[in-house]
Amino acid sequence: MPDALGTPATPFWDARYAEEAYAYGTAPNAWLASQASHLPASGRALVPASGEGRDAVWLAEQGLTVTAVDLSAAGLAKTHRLADARGVDVATVHADLRTWDWPLAEVDVVALSFVHVEPHVRSDLHRRALAALKPGGLVVVEGFHIGQLVYRAVHGSGGPGRADMLFTADLLRADFEGADVLALEETETTLREGAYHDGLAKVVRGVFRKRA
Ligand SMILES: C[S@@+](CC[C@H](N)C(=O)[O-])C[C@H]1O[C@@H](n2cnc3c(N)ncnc32)[C@H](O)[C@@H]1O
Repeated sequence: MPDALGTPATPFWDARYAEEAYAYGTAPNAWLASQASHLPASGRALVPASGEGRDAVWLAEQGLTVTAVDLSAAGLAKTHRLADARGVDVATVHADLRTWDWPLAEVDVVALSFVHVEPHVRSDLHRRALAALKPGGLVVVEGFHIGQLVYRAVHGSGGPGRADMLFTADLLRADFEGADVLALEETETTLREGAYHDGLAKVVRGVFRKRA
C-alpha cells in the first residue's frame, strides 16, 4: 500500500518481514552474486533498500565494509540476525532513502535489488546511488521489467502491480547516464528467491561504472 509520498508504507514491509522465513531468501540476489569477480576485494559497499539483508551480508562475506539502509526496522533486525549467523558485520541504518543524507563519492559498490518506488523517487534514488560512488565504483542493479505485469499474473513471481514502478533497460540507461554501461539486459529468468520472488519472471539487469 503506497503512502502519501508514493513509497510502500513501512507497516507493509514490517508485516512481510515479521514472518520467520526470509521473504526473499538468505542467498544473495543471483545477478549480484554473478558479478563477484568484478567486485573489489575490500572497500565500502552501500545497499539501499536492503530488506532483510541478503545482499548486504553476502557483500560483507566478500570482504567489503557494508552499510545497509532500509525503512523497515523488522528487515534490519533480520539483517543483524543473518550477519551474526554468518559471522560478519553489517552496519544498518533505519532511514527513508528519500530524506537520508546519502554519502558522496565515498563507496566502491552500490547494490540495488528490486527497489521499486514511484518514478520521481526512483530517478532521484538512482542519481544519488551514482553520486555515492567513488570514481570507478560500480552500481549492480536488478529489477522487474515492465513485462513482469504479465509474469506476476500468470506465474505469481512477484513484483509491484504498477507499470510506473517497473523498469526497462532504456530507463536504467537514462537514470545512470554518464556512467559506463558494463552490462545491461532485459531477460526472462526463473527466480528462486524466497516465497515472494519465485517462478518465471522478466527482469532488467545492469552493471554501471562511475567514470573517473
Ligand atoms: C522488494 S524489497 C527488496 C529488498 C532487498 N533489496 C532484496 O532484494 O532482498 C523492497 C525494499 O525497499 C524498502 N524501501 C522502499 N522504499 C524505501 C525508502 N523510501 N527508504 C528506504 N527503504 C525503502 C522496503 O522497506 C523493502 O525492504
